Amino acid sequence: MSTTDPFRVDGKVALVTGAARGIGAETAEQLIAGGARVLITDLLVDEGQALAAKFGAAASFFRLDVTQEADWQAATAEAIARFGRLDLVVNNAGLELAGFFADMSVDDYRRQMEVNGTSVFLGIKHAIRTMRPGGTAGRGGVIVNLSSAAGIKGVAGLGAYCASKGAVRLMTKAAANECARLHYGIRVNSVHPGLIKTEMGVKTLRDFVKLGIVPDEAAAEAAFEAGHLLGLGRPIDIALAIRYLASDAAQWITGMEMVVDGGYTAA
Ligand SMILES: NC(=O)c1ccc[n+]([C@@H]2O[C@H](COP(=O)([O-])OP(=O)(O)OC[C@H]3O[C@@H](n4cnc5c(N)ncnc54)[C@H](O)[C@@H]3O)[C@@H](O)[C@H]2O)c1
Repeated sequence: MSTTDPFRVDGKVALVTGAARGIGAETAEQLIAGGARVLITDLLVDEGQALAAKFGAAASFFRLDVTQEADWQAATAEAIARFGRLDLVVNNAGLELAGFFADMSVDDYRRQMEVNGTSVFLGIKHAIRTMRPGGTAGRGGVIVNLSSAAGIKGVAGLGAYCASKGAVRLMTKAAANECARLHYGIRVNSVHPGLIKTEMGVKTLRDFVKLGIVPDEAAAEAAFEAGHLLGLGRPIDIALAIRYLASDAAQWITGMEMVVDGGYTAA
């Protein structure tokens, strides 16, 4: 445990996916503020490199398409080559494809499940292989998976997205069981944000207009505001929850779904 403050993450090394912008970028920033070094990964090379440059020696960028297993092998190897260890993998990258069941193509459904579901399977697989005893990092660690409030509560117009995030929720609990029972020293938890106005959050508001659920973007935002007891959240609300789960303060927490949604699922 950290000698100073168990809520800090001093000395730890993290790999964060989808970290060029949005919740992932804020997570990288808060992990670094807490004393960690971060491998920022994304498909967006220019944005990711520019973000990593802001943090100097505490960060580095690596292009990782989370749906590609070879990229996972290369990225976990890069974390160790660059920083000498790996303690935390945040499976944050994601995509939101809206549509009613009656209208959505099976190709879009499969794409949604691949980018949000298969990606997390691959992330868990390679995090375990790297961090478990005998792995190239080998000292155990933490996996945090981004699910959603929509992985708990069904949302009209987001059927495929809900299915993908529900998969992440239970994959997390299965992995937590497996890691504990096989004595890997790896904790696995999921985080469930409510609506955050990142690029994805704004797309969701616009999709609800396109689907005819609300007349315009202002009405969409008002409806979501009303549905969240504390109003809409900010990326930092999620990033600090992730940092907590990564810290030694959470050392007795595994298999948990951490709902950070301003009361959306409680309303
Ligand atoms: N914003 C919200 O309201 C909200 C709510 C609940 C859950 N979430 C979840 O939080 C996570 C982050 O969302 P965000 O709002 O920051 O979204 P965002 O769209 O702003 O950022 C997502 C990032 O993932 C990257 N990405 C997409 N596909 C990828 C791939 N195949 N490989 C690597 N990177 C890829 C994108 O380039 C982007 O940088 C997602 O998993 C999302 O589903 C978001």
